[in-house]
Order: sequence, then C-alpha cells, then structure tokens
Amino acid sequence: MVPKIAPSILAGDHGNLSAEAERLQSWGADLIHVDIMDGLFAPNLTFGPAAVKAINKAASIPLDCHLMLQHPESFCERFLDAGADIVTVHVEAVDNETLSAIEEAVKKFSAKLGIAFKPDTSLSSIDLPAHDISMVTIMTVNPGFSGQKFMAEVVPKIREAADLFGKRQIEIEVDGGVDQSNAKMICENGATILVAGNSVLGQKDPENALKELKRLVDGS
Ligand code: DX5
Ligand code: ZN
Repeated sequence: MVPKIAPSILAGDHGNLSAEAERLQSWGADLIHVDIMDGLFAPNLTFGPAAVKAINKAASIPLDCHLMLQHPESFCERFLDAGADIVTVHVEAVDNETLSAIEEAVKKFSAKLGIAFKPDTSLSSIDLPAHDISMVTIMTVNPGFSGQKFMAEVVPKIREAADLFGKRQIEIEVDGGVDQSNAKMICENGATILVAGNSVLGQKDPENALKELKRLVDGS
C-alpha cells in the first residue's frame, strides 16, 4: 500500500477554509487533517464543529479530525455530526471507560476511531487491543502548533507501533514536522499516513510541495 498524505488545514488560510479544502482535494490529498484544540489539552485554540462542517461541504475526501481536547467525550458526537470520518482522541485524555463510550459514538456514525500519543507517551499506556481502533497517531511534535521541528527520537516508537498494530490493518499516522526531507524515512519505519502542515500549505507552491511528498513516498 502506498502511504497516504493528509495535509493539515491548520497551516492554511483560516479565512478561506472551503477554498483550502477544495484545492487540497484537487491536488490529490488523500485525507484532510483537521487539528482541533481547546486551549487546555494543547496551548492553542483552533476549529469548532461549524468549521468542520464547512470543510466537509467543500471536499469529499475523508476528514481526519485530530481532537486535542481535555474532554473529547463531550464533543466527539458534534464533530462526527459535522462530517468527521475519523475521530482521533488522545490517550492522555481518556481512560478505558471513556474510550469505550467514544467508540460507541463513532460506530453510531459509521466513522473510524483513532488514538493519538504525545511524543513522551508510551504505547503501553492503554489496553489498545480491547478497543476497536482504526488508526494509531504517533505525534512527533508536542500538540499546539504547525511548523515545529520533527522529533527524531520518536522514530523507534513509529517502528514499535507498526510492529504491534500494522498486521491488524491499523493505520499508523505520523503527525508533526513531516516534510520532504524525512517523509521517506518515516514511511520506511512503518508509517502509512503522513500529516503535513507547514510542508504543504505553509509553502509558496503548496501544490508542488504536496505532489513532491506523494512522489517521495510512492514505492515506500
Ligand atoms: C500539532 C498538530 C499537527 C500540525 C502539523 O499540534 O497536531 O497536526 O498541524 O503541522 P506541521 O506538519 O507543520 O508540523
Ligand atoms: Zn494533528
């Protein structure tokens, strides 16, 4: 399987979200990554359900909603209702019981559930096999902002996640500081989805930047 590229709309023009979504789709993005932050779990405030609804209206490719929220259980249904195809919650913000409740909501909307790990969080911090997870997101920057430096020390955890979950058809997404210089190496370590913020919508020629990323991972 060719790894997928999920440009992050956080790095785009927030005054033109629909146009950003349309152009990402037309350039061949596989998914659109939407970074949702509440100012508590992560030191930034970004998009609410209305923004997700507008993005969903503008593009038909899957919306990958990364919930960096202290209480994802309070909002996940609203993001699902707004059109999220994948809802990813942070392992640091849920316990097994909360995660089971979120899992039920995701099933009700026939969507997919992802679970994200901050750079310092170990994969063993939750009983993942007990849950119906479609994607594991390994963060290679601390949640908050686009344009941070890739944390190379997290690469062994990408490999570990791929070894543990890859065989179960669980996508391994890598999020943070991914660019044209490291994309191939990250895929060689087992990533199946690369989130790209600054390295696509932060570039002067974002179309070319996305196409270059796709070309680099093709055949990984
Ligand atoms: C960070 C977000 C990332 C971010 C990626 O909190 O979860 O998805 O948008 O942006 P880049 O690719 O610029 O690091
Ligand atoms: Zn993200």
